[in-house]
Amino acid sequence: MPDGVAPGQAGDLDPQVWASGVRRGPDGALTAAGVDVRDLAREHGTPAYVLDEADFRARARTYREAFTAAFAPLGVGVDVYYAGKAFLSVAVARWAHEEGLRVDTSTGGELAVALRAGVPGADIGLHGNNKADAEIERALAAGVGRLIVDSRGEVDRIADAAARTGRRAPVMVRVTTGVHAGGHEYISTAHEDQKFGLSVAGGPAMEALRAVLERPELELLGIHSHIGSQILDAAGFEEAARTLLRLRADLHAATGYLAPEVDLGGGYGVAYLPGESAIDPGDVAGRLATTVGAVCAELSTPVPRISIEPGRAIVGPTTFTLYTVGTVKPVTVDGDDGPFTRTYVAVDGGMSDNLRPALYGAHYTATVASRVASPETVRARVVGKHCESGDIVVHDVALSADVAPGDLLAVPVTGAYGRSMASNYNHVPRPPVLAVRDGAVRVLVRRETEDDLLALDLG
Ligand code: LLP
Repeated sequence: MPDGVAPGQAGDLDPQVWASGVRRGPDGALTAAGVDVRDLAREHGTPAYVLDEADFRARARTYREAFTAAFAPLGVGVDVYYAGKAFLSVAVARWAHEEGLRVDTSTGGELAVALRAGVPGADIGLHGNNKADAEIERALAAGVGRLIVDSRGEVDRIADAAARTGRRAPVMVRVTTGVHAGGHEYISTAHEDQKFGLSVAGGPAMEALRAVLERPELELLGIHSHIGSQILDAAGFEEAARTLLRLRADLHAATGYLAPEVDLGGGYGVAYLPGESAIDPGDVAGRLATTVGAVCAELSTPVPRISIEPGRAIVGPTTFTLYTVGTVKPVTVDGDDGPFTRTYVAVDGGMSDNLRPALYGAHYTATVASRVASPETVRARVVGKHCESGDIVVHDVALSADVAPGDLLAVPVTGAYGRSMASNYNHVPRPPVLAVRDGAVRVLVRRETEDDLLALDLG
């Protein structure tokens, strides 16, 4: 059975995997916020990322409102930081901020985008397991709301930079709670054997927290944990929250300092295939509020201000990638139940615009987007144009049997870690990001050109 069972022309686009503004018209073509994908392809070319602005804003609001409402009875506010690593552009940073979110950055480059967007420094956080001094200084100069300390050595490096710049640095300490959660080993980040954070169990977390308190140039805002990505079960978040709150209480007992904030990280999972469900923000917010309330009562400590850092859940489902079909090639494959035909459908992009299938074995679905196509399906594999057999966009999908060169093909849920992890492999220019809203298109990031690539080559 193919993974992505969306035949080209079911007409019923599963709302779990398509942005709210995507429809299929009577002529079989998709429209996004009222814009016909055939017009998009004609005017802007393919491949292209098509981002539904209203859908992005709605998801941002949903997270902010769900967490704010859940924690209100505990008497604390919640800051939602949009994790820019999922996808960041000037416009997107602005939208997030307009919807009441702050912006989480993990490098000087992401910080530069957030600042260019006009997001006030106070509403920006800076992460990174290996921050350069220049990044730290730039963050301090911008007056960022917080730097997240990721190693013991960084405590002194940030304090020294603060002394040099004459600004007190607000910091959180990122800890590893031992909770192992998420879709793939490479994206689960709070177990001990990886590069992020400081271990709670072994003592380095407490040691770093105490070191922060000893440096007058630093202001300890709180404790941070990010347990992984594409998490569909709230239990891991609850477990991590318990560990963070206990550590906060231990620090209080040991030093008399009660850290005012706790950051529960990002990682909220989304649906990639029809029939899958995203984690429900209201549900996870409610469960986390219950856990935080109960643990704080148990420990007799006041409830801290909470922050979270969703990236994928805000931007992932807002976007689909629009490709043009080129070569269509049936291949006979020896399956477990005997030989079958797999139709290789090659598109004009691939692993350079979506690395996730090659890197994580991630699964997607696809649909013919430009016409009424056959209700009969073939077992298809959507592949790219790169010189590599692992260049797969959709591993296994039931596509309309008459899929043909020149068709437009749409692959949903590519908003997170798509453009942001895109490369120029084989000197393929990276696609544009086109925002659609109320029947209008706006180019957020233009298509790269061969000249852009050659401009870097000094001959
Ligand atoms: N906060 C921190 C500290 C993080 O490291 C991350 C993601 C996030 C927030 C946002 O996580 P999200 O809500 O988007 O799951 N490239 C991988 C995902 C890597 C995630 C890295 N950190 C992928 O394509 O699945």
